[in-house]
Amino acid sequence: MKSSEIRRVFIEFFAERGHLQVPSSSLVPHNDPTVLLTTAGMQQMTPYFLGLERPPSPRLTSIQKCFRTVDIDEVGDEEHLTFFEMLGNFSVGDYFKAEAISWAWELLTERFGIPRERLRPSVHRDDDFAFAYWRDVIGIPAELIARLGDEHNWWGPVGETGPNGPDSEIFYDRGEALGCGRPDCGPGCDYCHRFLEIWNLVFMEFFKEADGTQRPLPRKNIDTGMGLERIAMVLQGVGSVFETDLYLPILECAADIAGVRYREDPRVDRSLRVIADHGRAVTFLIGDGVFPGNEGRSYVLRRVLRRAVRHGRLIGPVNRLTAASGMTSTT
Ligand code: GLY
Repeated sequence: MKSSEIRRVFIEFFAERGHLQVPSSSLVPHNDPTVLLTTAGMQQMTPYFLGLERPPSPRLTSIQKCFRTVDIDEVGDEEHLTFFEMLGNFSVGDYFKAEAISWAWELLTERFGIPRERLRPSVHRDDDFAFAYWRDVIGIPAELIARLGDEHNWWGPVGETGPNGPDSEIFYDRGEALGCGRPDCGPGCDYCHRFLEIWNLVFMEFFKEADGTQRPLPRKNIDTGMGLERIAMVLQGVGSVFETDLYLPILECAADIAGVRYREDPRVDRSLRVIADHGRAVTFLIGDGVFPGNEGRSYVLRRVLRRAVRHGRLIGPVNRLTAASGMTSTT
């Protein structure tokens, strides 16, 4: 399934269930001074979750441009990115855990056709409802539901303060061959990449204050996020996000410019992947009005740009480009 088709199927599925599609907000958050950039689909929903503004509908869905540097050192592996598109469905004080889990399962197994035995959920270890729902209603054997702690199954806030809550994540099992073989290997395993997190269902119930106090939100909300690039990797049956239709053309273009080939040398591949990811990130950041500079988000952009350039220098004769453009290399 092409990525454009995945976007369409996702939005249509939630529109059929009464969700209003809202456009992606800018990568520069307009309503949240606690963060520099938009890192999650829920950010534009924050005023609704806090009860400060009335949402256009209690059920919303979006495809949000996101940028995160938290995984920047891992970009170049199979699944980590700085810029990505987040497919999300949101409930503002409307449905809660049962519908969020059931619909996620239905979309993955029936619309996207992922075999159910390939999917493994995790829940917060104190969330008896979510555990029982996966076991009794969805029918996942109890021993295949991972019950994990805050470090895995608690999401948010995006800044120091804000909405947050326990979550239930859905992982795709990429197969035993990619596992570490440890007896406790499962969703959230720190030793291998067998289980790929594809969807996070967040049960937004709390607001974290500056002093760390968690106060209940006025209503219980749902915030889900599924990375388009990862679900595309699964549905296109490829080994990394970089082999999906979202990246391959960029990689091939960068390889042509550098005079190298993808899939011949793992070090070159890593650099091409970094260039492809950072190139997309820089393009969308600039598109949303961020320019390289020395402070705040401008500094983040500058660092990402420089990183991509460094990888370009690693893999290719930089003078080829400068010569072609008639410029003199300053390196
Ligand atoms: N807000 C859910 C996520 O970003 O994973």
